Parts: sequence; structure tokens; C-alpha cells
Amino acid sequence: MNINPASSLPLPPGNLGLPFIGKNKIFPKNYQDYIKEMYEKYGPIYKTRIRGKKFIYFQGYEAVKFVLTNENKYFTSPIIFKNSQIIFGKTDITRLVGKEHRDRQKLLAQVLKKQALNNYINTIHNLSQGYFLKWIKSDFVDLYFEINNYTLDLVLKLLLGIDSASESEIGNYLKDMMSGLNTIPLAFPWTKLGCALKSKDKLFNQFEQIIVKRQKESDFGSDVLGILLTVREQTHNQITITEIVEQMVNLLSLGKKELSSALTSFLILTTEHLDVLNLLQIEHEKLDKSEPLSFAKLKKMVDLEQVIKEVLRLAPPVSGGLREVLQDCSFQGFRIPKGWNVGYRISSVLQDPEIYEQPERFNPERFNLVNAEDQKKPLCYIPFGGGVRECIGKEFAYLVIKIFISALLDNCSWKFKENQDLTINTFPVARPANKIEVCFTQK
Ligand code: HEM
Repeated sequence: MNINPASSLPLPPGNLGLPFIGKNKIFPKNYQDYIKEMYEKYGPIYKTRIRGKKFIYFQGYEAVKFVLTNENKYFTSPIIFKNSQIIFGKTDITRLVGKEHRDRQKLLAQVLKKQALNNYINTIHNLSQGYFLKWIKSDFVDLYFEINNYTLDLVLKLLLGIDSASESEIGNYLKDMMSGLNTIPLAFPWTKLGCALKSKDKLFNQFEQIIVKRQKESDFGSDVLGILLTVREQTHNQITITEIVEQMVNLLSLGKKELSSALTSFLILTTEHLDVLNLLQIEHEKLDKSEPLSFAKLKKMVDLEQVIKEVLRLAPPVSGGLREVLQDCSFQGFRIPKGWNVGYRISSVLQDPEIYEQPERFNPERFNLVNAEDQKKPLCYIPFGGGVRECIGKEFAYLVIKIFISALLDNCSWKFKENQDLTINTFPVARPANKIEVCFTQK
């Protein structure tokens, strides 16, 4: 008889609360304090129940590394978010496993590889400058709202070549579709999910029309659609038009709010640490203004890169990831039963005092060549996750943040309205707790 050693072990500490209702219906307001409290109470893993489902949470470096390095062996993509399944269907990359997952990664890598990113540089730069011109004409702008519109315009311009999407029908359909993700999973015409699905159909329709038009053109173009149509032609139509539309919607839904979060947190944290902003300005002034923007020029912005890393460490846009347990396994003497859900916490690693000195301090120098705290151990710097499901948009995200901030440093000074609450809520996606108003002026 085959005895599974894990089955004889105790379950992790914690409290499952009542079935169906569970213990944690909501997470507390201050997520960082909550994580610390849970760690002090239970250590690296604990069980709980959320919305009726049994969960084990992994926190701290060793525990999170266990989850990230055992993908497809002990853990797989979860099926707990009904709405995202209903809206995105089976084609969502975060749901795919095995060969299908690898094939999808390969396909999406075509639009995110260095050569493709190189073609996006000017678009990102021009769009950023367009926004700054608009902002300097207003007294104060609502920072998060504006940055959200910027990222929406940016992704739709890069995907399909559409201008000013935030003011277009497509932008509205997308917003409506996304607003169905965190609502009751009932798809009737009068429910939020029902409306989201209607908007999704309209979005798909518009995309299809754009694709049909583009196919008739002699040159497919160098945006994401152009690249995918070229791959389709080269592989003798192996990818269908519907699949292309699905991939575009998938890319649109992943990464936009994370980018908005990173840009907003960057401005908040550097405004709170003017010494750091000063250093960035000095680095910028040393750059050759006549040299066109390129990967080589962006590589010279070493301080900027360190500040971006520190922003993503202290205010990681994504709070964590979820998985389902594929087979019984154990961690530090506790049983992790098959079929349960698992959550891993990104900030518990990025702010683990075993890895980061004085983790609560904003100190970009921790990433310089001498300190290199992110190199201390494998998988200790994980704002983009890690392992098989590491974010495929990572290089693109760095590119956008670097270009946006460097263009901002070139063109504008900014001042936050006085006496504003600059708290960043870090759960579920880091964003300002309140409206933040900023005044931009031309340099
Ligand atoms: C600062 C910006 C971003 C951050 C912090 C971020 C973070 C993450 C994290 C933590 C994961 C892993 C989640 C898990 O383990 O379950 C992830 C996955 C993913 N991200 Fe990002 N992301 C960002 C931007 C983007 C962008 C711009 C794109 C698209 C162009 C993108 C596309 C994806 C995709 C497709 C996955 C799923 C990978 C898979 O399941 O194989 N992300 N991201």
C-alpha cells in the first residue's frame, strides 16, 4: 500500500471559522500590519476560510519560495474567481496549464520581446509628453484618475493603434467589462456581471472590425495587432482571429492597473523623499539631451532603476497570487491537502527583515551594486511573482515606468496640494487611499 507521508501530518495553525461564511470575509484596512500580525500569530503558514473556501496562506521568504518553486507539481492555477472565468473564459493565460500555458507564453512573448519593445519606445514617450502638456494647463489634476487614463490610452495605442481610447467607446466598454470582475457571479441583464458581458461582446465586435480592416492593408504594422497578424500569416493561419482578439483582451486586462499603481506610488514616494528626487534630477541633468531615447540611453539611468525597484518593493502593485493544491504535500511539518486553495503574499517577502535591512525604510541604495539586497537569495525580489508564472510583462512595465518618469523629469516640476493624506492602500492593488491632487508646471 502506498502511504502518503503528508496525510499523517497536522494541518497548519489557524481558524477555519464557519463553513460557507468563513473567518475572513474581508481583509483589514492596513494590509501590511495585518500580514505582520498573522506572521506573529501563526508563523509562515496558516489556514483560514474565505468566502466559504479553505485556504492556506504562505508568508515570508521560505514559505513563498516553496509555492513558487512547486508550480505544476503541488500547485496549479486556481478556479476560484468565477467572474473572471465567466468573462475571460478558458483562454485566460492565468488559467492555462502545461503545454497550453507554455504555448501561450511563447505567443505573448512575441509582442513583449526586446525587438517589439524597441518599437514601442517612441509611442510611450510621445503619449507621456501629451499627457504632461495637458496637465500643465490645469491647476491641479486628480493623479490616480489621470494616470489610469494614461495607461488605458497607452495599452490601446500599443495594441491596436487607437488614439485617446480613454475618451472612446472602446475605453468605456473595457472599463464596464472590468467592473464585472469583483461582483456577485450572477449573469442577468440587470446585474453588473451581465452588463460586463454585454460590454465584452461589444469590445470583441469592435476589435474584430479593426482586425478585418487591418488585414486588408499592405503592411500589418508594428503594434501588437500587427505582430500577431504577422505570426498568424507565418504559421499559415494556425491562430484564429478569435484567438487574436482573446489575447488582446487578455493583455488589456492584465497589467494596466498594476502600471497605474506603480506610476502613482512612484510619484507619492519620491515626493515624500525629496532627497531621492533630487538625486534623480542630478542623474538626469548629466544625460545628453540630444541623444534620442533608446534602450542604451535608458540603461544609463541607474539611479532611476534603483528607485523604481524600491517603489515596487515598498508598494508592490500586486499583493499576492493564488493557487490550488494539486496533490497532498507538506511544508515545515504541516499538511497541505489536495483541493485546498493557497495564497502567497508578495510583500511578506519584499519586506522580510531577514532579506531587506530596515525593510520599512525607503532606501533605493539597497539595490546598488554593493548592497544588492535583491540578489541575496533566489526569488527574494518578487514584485512580478516568480517561477513558471512570473509576469511576462515585467520588461515592458520597467520600460513604461522609466520612459514616463524620465520624460516627466525632463519636462515638468510638480507639487502636491498641501495637507493631503498620501497613504497608499496596498490591498488588493496598491493605490492611494484618497484622491490626490497634484499641480504640474513646465520646467
Ligand atoms: C508594474 C507592473 C506589473 C506588476 C507589478 C505585475 C505583477 C505580476 C505578478 C505578481 C504576476 C504573478 C501572479 C501570480 O503568481 O499568480 C503577474 C502575472 C502576469 N502578468 Fe504582470 N505585472 C505588471 C505588469 C504587467 C503588464 C504590463 C503585463 C502585460 C503586458 C502583464 C502581464 C502578466 C501576465 C500575462 C501574467 C500571467 C502569467 C502567467 O500566469 O503565466 N503584467 N504579474
